[in-house]
Amino acid sequence: MKALIFIPLLLSALLACSKSEPPPPKPSPGELVFKGTCKVCHAQGINGAPILGNKVMWDKRKGQGIDTLVKHASEGYGLMPAKGGNEALTEDEIRMAIQYMLSKVE
Ligand code: HEC
Repeated sequence: MKALIFIPLLLSALLACSKSEPPPPKPSPGELVFKGTCKVCHAQGINGAPILGNKVMWDKRKGQGIDTLVKHASEGYGLMPAKGGNEALTEDEIRMAIQYMLSKVE
């Protein structure tokens, strides 16, 4: 019997929550591209890739400006494969992924 009373209470509590609380934050498109393609190398620094969140490694790269970084990442640069090896990515997606990485060293 108790459960019969409890269930509607629980439901209305859940409904009230879902109405008042903002939806959980979605990962940005740049973060999604990063996780899908760039992370394999840029999380741990494979072959010297500048590591996510590592200020020292990113500082000297940042100085070139975002446009040069996007160009290098799109065309390939040293041991960095063009588009991180994912030909399906657009230049905009590359840019968003770089902006995401740069946002972690601001
Ligand atoms: C297979 C490993 C690998 C993947 C995957 C990869 N990178 Fe890199 N990346 C590197 C390496 C290695 C370097 C350092 C290259 C050098 O300085 O010789 C680098 C350097 C860079 C740089 C700095 C370029 C510069 O001018 O200093 C940027 C920006 C970058 N990567 C963006 C990305 C983005 C965006 C992705 C995903 C779309 C990605 N990388 C995926 C290995 C990778």
